[in-house]
Amino acid sequence: MVAPNDLVFDGWDISSLNLAEAMRRAQVLDWGLQEQLWPHMEALRPRPSVYIPEFIAANQSARADNLIPGTRAQQLEQIRRDICDFRSSAGLDKVIVLWTANTERFCEVVPGLNDTAENLLRTIQLGLEVSPSTLFAVASILEGCAFLNGSPQNTLVPGALDLAWQRRVFVGGDDFKSGQTKVKSVLVDFLIGSGLKTMSIVSYNHLGNNDGQNLSAPPQFRSKEASKSNVVDDMVHSNPVLYAPGQEPDHCVVIKYVPYVGDSKRALDEYTSELMLGGTNTLVLHSTCEDSLLAAPIMLDLVLLTELCQRVSFCTDADPEPQTFHPVLSLLSFLFKAPLVPPGSPVVNALFRQRSCIENILRACVGLPPQNHMLLEFKMERPSPSFRQAVPVAATCPAPGKKGQAPTASNDCTGNANVYLQAGAPQMPTT
Ligand SMILES: NC(=O)c1ccc[n+]([C@@H]2O[C@H](COP(=O)([O-])OP(=O)(O)OC[C@H]3O[C@@H](n4cnc5c(N)ncnc54)[C@H](O)[C@@H]3O)[C@@H](O)[C@H]2O)c1
Repeated sequence: MVAPNDLVFDGWDISSLNLAEAMRRAQVLDWGLQEQLWPHMEALRPRPSVYIPEFIAANQSARADNLIPGTRAQQLEQIRRDICDFRSSAGLDKVIVLWTANTERFCEVVPGLNDTAENLLRTIQLGLEVSPSTLFAVASILEGCAFLNGSPQNTLVPGALDLAWQRRVFVGGDDFKSGQTKVKSVLVDFLIGSGLKTMSIVSYNHLGNNDGQNLSAPPQFRSKEASKSNVVDDMVHSNPVLYAPGQEPDHCVVIKYVPYVGDSKRALDEYTSELMLGGTNTLVLHSTCEDSLLAAPIMLDLVLLTELCQRVSFCTDADPEPQTFHPVLSLLSFLFKAPLVPPGSPVVNALFRQRSCIENILRACVGLPPQNHMLLEFKMERPSPSFRQAVPVAATCPAPGKKGQAPTASNDCTGNANVYLQAGAPQMPTT
């Protein structure tokens, strides 16, 4: 993988503050840390960006002083020039564009306007309705740069997805999965997987950063509500024993802007599940965290994983011609609240299934079998002779990442690098 220290950053913002001043305004980092970072951040100035007031909350207008002028077509060309300039001036191999600007309102998908690549490009030329984030997506795809959407709105309208497919450029989204939703995608999987029938999920948030202020406007809140709401669907549908067709839990999401708490976001969740014989189980969670500090590492992981995926090709028994992943990079689902997947693909929200997908694909890349957690060799009445020799297993499993060792899955090793026998553990029968 690319070493995170080798990444080079550039970006756009409708606000002209340099990054040191923006850091002070955001009030996320402690003062001492800000002072240390100041000299490194001061020289970094965002490039002007596209501001279309109706897409974000009116309360953002005061910061919009760094804008690309001109028609939509001219703005698109400027973004493309910016990407080329960044690539050449910094001497880069690759550019990956990540949308981490304000949540926009949803864009209506209209046949003839944004439903195909051709219609979307014509819409931009004619100056019809297109969101700023979609303009960035189109510019990135036209420049052959992967585009990732860290906000909840439908930036990747069908026309943008079509363009990505035509140009074979990776796109991913939507909405960083950083806090409350991440916990939900574990907890509901756990509850339903344990046979408890979760029937009510109520999530309150309050936060006081600029994201919270923008989300206090109803159209922008609705984008966030939509991306937070579908996260339990696959887990509910995967258990037809608990849930009758069409039955699902009540799921309510509330977000309030409370300036005093700043970036220290509060999330309160209540999960109520049915037990046997009319009983109920209610779990209540209260979490407090610096919202931005949960999101920043996710941005890095997204870029690193996307870059890695750009170097993976594979073939299957049925199709020996090498191919790459589908342009809609669903492998990134682990990091997104409302994962985009190729048409017709199942959406997986359960966090550990998403993680397992990444783990197994990376294992395949180094020639290891998928991790299936079966551990059959520990459960056999008659373990095979090769297994008996192989104990302890850890010694025969190549540690991932160790240089100079060919990754093999010899003898009966499951490929589970975490498996080892503890001293005093019950011995396997040998006869
Ligand atoms: N934990 C998290 O922080 C988290 C988690 C999930 C999703 N998100 C999403 O990430 C996005 C950013 O969150 P944030 O907390 O950094 O918000 P923020 O308001 O602090 O930062 C957004 C920045 O985008 C700029 N901006 C607005 N419109 C722009 C445009 N058209 N072009 C360029 N820049 C523009 C703003 O000036 C601001 O500096 C939001 O959509 C948010 O919902 C954040």
